[in-house]
Amino acid sequence: MAEVSPALLSVVPDDEGKEKFKSSSHVAFYRRQMEGPHLQHRVLLDTVVLTEKGARFELLAPGTQTRLLLSVSAYKNDTVRLLIDELQPVKSRYRVPDVITREPACEQLRVETRTMDSVTLSWSSARHRARVWRFPLRVELLCEEEVMATFNSKGKLWFETLQDGPSATSDGSELPEDPTSLLWKETFRHFVDIKANGPSSIGADVCLHGFSHVYGLPEHADSLQLRDTRDGEPYRLYNLDVFAYDLYSRRGLYGSVPLLVAHKPDRTLGVFWLNASETFVNIRYSPTDHQDDQTPPVKRRRMQPETDVHWLSESGVMDCVVLLGPGPRQLFSQYAQLTGYQALPPLFALGYHQCRWNYRDEADVKAVDAGFDRHNIPYDVIWLDIEHTDGKRYFTWDPALFPDPVGLQRHLETKNRKLVVISDPHIKADPDWSLFCEARDGGHFVKDREGRLYRGSCWPGECCYVDFSSPDTRAWYSSCFGLDRYKGSTPSLHVWNDMNEPSVFDGPEQTMPKDAVHYGGWEHRELHNLYGFYQHMATLEGLITRSGGSERPFILSRSFFAGSQRLGAVWTGDNVASWEYLKISIPMLLSLSVAGVAFCGADVGGFIQDPDPELLVRWYQAAALQPFFRGHSANVTKRREPWLFGVTVTAAIRTAIQQRYCLLPYWYTLFHQAHTAGLPPLRPLWVEFSRDPSTFAVDHQYMIGGALLACPVTEAALREAQVYLPGCGELWYDVHSAKAYEGGATLSLPLTLDTVPVFQRGGSVVCRSTGSGSCTAELRQLPLSVTVALNSQGAADGELYLDDGHSFSYRDRKAFCLRSFSLMSGRLLCRPAGEDGAFDCDTVVHSVTVVGLKNKPSTVTVHVSGAKETRAAFEYTESCCRLTVSGLNLRVATDWDIQID
Ligand code: NOJ
Repeated sequence: MAEVSPALLSVVPDDEGKEKFKSSSHVAFYRRQMEGPHLQHRVLLDTVVLTEKGARFELLAPGTQTRLLLSVSAYKNDTVRLLIDELQPVKSRYRVPDVITREPACEQLRVETRTMDSVTLSWSSARHRARVWRFPLRVELLCEEEVMATFNSKGKLWFETLQDGPSATSDGSELPEDPTSLLWKETFRHFVDIKANGPSSIGADVCLHGFSHVYGLPEHADSLQLRDTRDGEPYRLYNLDVFAYDLYSRRGLYGSVPLLVAHKPDRTLGVFWLNASETFVNIRYSPTDHQDDQTPPVKRRRMQPETDVHWLSESGVMDCVVLLGPGPRQLFSQYAQLTGYQALPPLFALGYHQCRWNYRDEADVKAVDAGFDRHNIPYDVIWLDIEHTDGKRYFTWDPALFPDPVGLQRHLETKNRKLVVISDPHIKADPDWSLFCEARDGGHFVKDREGRLYRGSCWPGECCYVDFSSPDTRAWYSSCFGLDRYKGSTPSLHVWNDMNEPSVFDGPEQTMPKDAVHYGGWEHRELHNLYGFYQHMATLEGLITRSGGSERPFILSRSFFAGSQRLGAVWTGDNVASWEYLKISIPMLLSLSVAGVAFCGADVGGFIQDPDPELLVRWYQAAALQPFFRGHSANVTKRREPWLFGVTVTAAIRTAIQQRYCLLPYWYTLFHQAHTAGLPPLRPLWVEFSRDPSTFAVDHQYMIGGALLACPVTEAALREAQVYLPGCGELWYDVHSAKAYEGGATLSLPLTLDTVPVFQRGGSVVCRSTGSGSCTAELRQLPLSVTVALNSQGAADGELYLDDGHSFSYRDRKAFCLRSFSLMSGRLLCRPAGEDGAFDCDTVVHSVTVVGLKNKPSTVTVHVSGAKETRAAFEYTESCCRLTVSGLNLRVATDWDIQID
């Protein structure tokens, strides 16, 4: 058994008995802004300048003669950007680079009306306008005459200008010991943070009119709908390594996406606060229960709901993009146009992953791999954690435990399986190790505030941290993944970036001090939340380059930021083997999905502690219905490969994994949609049923794409599930029994250990594989079965996306196949869906099942383009109105029809 690691011990308060992590009251800029006073800014309306980028106004800061610059831009995709910076800063403020992929084309703004108090800006292609009020500063965003959102509605705008500061020694002792020095020096426990340019925080509020539901802002272990923060902590966005994180908490976790999404029946709206420094968000819903005492009931009923969102960041410029929807689909597309689309994963990455800290040695890996075959459980990837390295030096192998890593990968490859290894951002400070020396001599490490190498402790002991914010350093780091440089690696090796918040065992809040210095002289405080994003980016680049640009790699990262979806997958870190953690994984993954990070998952079984068999089965069943599907466990837990708990448990896990594999053609199609349209595969119910308010707070069940509704079981010994089937007039079909139910009601469904409630929506078509194979490569050879679920008009449609599953040919040579299936008036058509790609695809459809078919047909005829019609044999089950036509051999890439008479 491995020793208990420092991280495992870190769950307890430290030696001083004090909490390791801050609450908002420990954070000086948060206190300053919350305590105010908030003096009001004035817009100098006469200073308005219109350029092709938008409109600019000067702002006068209260109490000083300092001027700020407000820019208002409208993009052609119905988004509006508000940016505030200093007019004449002593040095430039940090603007988040590399997150916005391409600035969308700007609208030409014009001044539509001007009064003493306001200027109204309009643009041609939309019904939207922006009205800028002189005093106090406010910016209203309107659709026709309706105000949708007001910036600075509650006057919380806060902007601390940078200063040339007193030079300080490393402990800050030269700073004057008067109250203002507190602004330059902040102490938490024994950690001292010296701010190079003094206090630099910003803040503002945005009022969302008519909205009473807001979502997003991952990562928190909390409900999908964000809570009113009046009674507790604000949502904190500050990437931290939090072992066994608290549940129902708004404290910062491993990653941050500063996107908040608001929804009401006729509009979905987003606020993207592009800032990578420590950020807090307060939310107030009104009217709320808080007003119950004072507000008379009649008045309360008449009050239009609104949500106030108050953003506070430690540094940087104020950069806020409002996404105007109007619906969830447009909003996801607007956000993806800004920050990038989900990377299309290689197909294997959607299969099952088996991980553990640690698989001991090569023999252990081979035995686990063989165990999957012996038990007939499909899987695609086995993982190696930190112990595979030579003394926690990433890019190396322990010579005793892994003497032949290439042989190991070749062995797995013969079964079409892959290896993933961990690569953390900390580099052991070992002057006898060439990689360390190269990084040090190449200037690739983060510095401390004195300009020396910054050193912190992590798994290997004393470490230096790669400065991924530097493009040169990213290029250097990427090159380390070259097959010639990374000894023992082969093209089937993929990568896991962990501890990249970054985790520093002896740092403040177990991370890097904010006054450490990065490329370009930027303090760590400016870009803290980008650190993991940049490592993910450099690793991706490395693996793409390794293949000469032809292969799609897979990289999992623990830390992330807006835009991380372009780089690969993320997971929810160190969860615990308990029912509560299983339950919270659903809203956590939904929040990530809403914020664009679609390829996400949670450690199956719980990372810490040992799950009992029932919990393990339920976790497999839930995660098989989620995007990233990996079993993982900590070093001090018992082994838990799926076959270690007796035949019943093995069978239940096998079924869950096999069903996942069968559904992979559908998942892959959903990832194509995420990659091209920004639509997440995992969707809160309100995304699909945007006019049904009873879906707005649901976060224990969700949609997989537009067709399937899942309600994983997250309670012990549950004998009956309550499932809400949304949409009056909708039909839903139990995927196991084909039994039909009407929407707009809650259903009680009896459960056994083998059942997981999943329903197919009437009106949809879902393609499955007819078997699971032993891995995704085998699955690709198998024929498909198509399930058509009829809506109340007897119609249905759906899509299928196929490509080679691993290369960029789909992009570079249009080598893909996108097909549509639609059934109307008894005729099912298989046709190209829009742009037809050039993929030579020999996949065939073996069977078609139609559910919800009221009458038994007399004949079923198949017509393949260019051939003559043939009669097909079929079966009809009256009790569940199901027609099955099997024994077909229809190429999916060919046009064909099935007529049901
Ligand atoms: C922390 C990660 O969250 C966990 O998944 C991993 O096993 C350990 N680090 C060891 O690398």
